[in-house]
Amino acid sequence: MPINKYNIHDSETLHEIEKELLEEAYIIFFDEIDESTTFDEKYLKSLHKRTFESLYEWAGIFRDFNMAKEESRFCQGAYIQDESKKIFKALKDEYYLKDFDTKPKEKFVNRLAYFQCELIALHPFYELNGRITRMFFDMIAVYNGYKFIDYSNFTALEYTQASIDCVQFADHKGLEKIISKGVYR
Ligand SMILES: Nc1ncnc2c1ncn2[C@@H]1O[C@H](COP(=O)(O)OP(=O)(O)OP(=O)(O)O)[C@@H](O)[C@H]1O
Ligand SMILES: [Mg+2]
Repeated sequence: MPINKYNIHDSETLHEIEKELLEEAYIIFFDEIDESTTFDEKYLKSLHKRTFESLYEWAGIFRDFNMAKEESRFCQGAYIQDESKKIFKALKDEYYLKDFDTKPKEKFVNRLAYFQCELIALHPFYELNGRITRMFFDMIAVYNGYKFIDYSNFTALEYTQASIDCVQFADHKGLEKIISKGVYR
């Protein structure tokens, strides 16, 4: 369990607090979206920092140590900065996906899945990567006139399997299938 500012040792309580902080943050970030919102690295860090800084010292800070989950090794700590720069450069080259309100939904889904896979493999934070990564793409969806992406048609295990494909095989097809069922106006 992550060390936290309130010294909470009960994981259920901690999880409940995280859930409340995330819900409050969703309202704030949703309200803040306007034409000038840029979905860059700074924005990703700010989502993590502002959502969880009351609870965690390391909120909004990229890790510099290695991390793995089961057989999956995420981007090595030493390469996080460079790899992040690359991903966000590519995202910038696609205008931060800010021009999909009139383009075909299928293409939008494909780009959301591609970049979400990249961030899943990066796994830049110590914890809360899944929630903040999904929040990041929820805000991009909203910017383009869509609702928050609905992942509830699939189980947590299916999302994990799609993530394994991202991290171990750089394959975003599984995630694309999940996202395609969850993007709607
Ligand atoms: N075995 C695995 N192989 C590859 N990626 C994984 C694996 N298990 C989980 N992941 C990815 O790591 C993310 C979880 O990261 P982390 O625990 O930092 O965030 P979280 O907010 O607690 O995640 P979540 O709410 O999705 O469980 C998942 O959302 C998934 O994308
Ligand atoms: Mg976690």
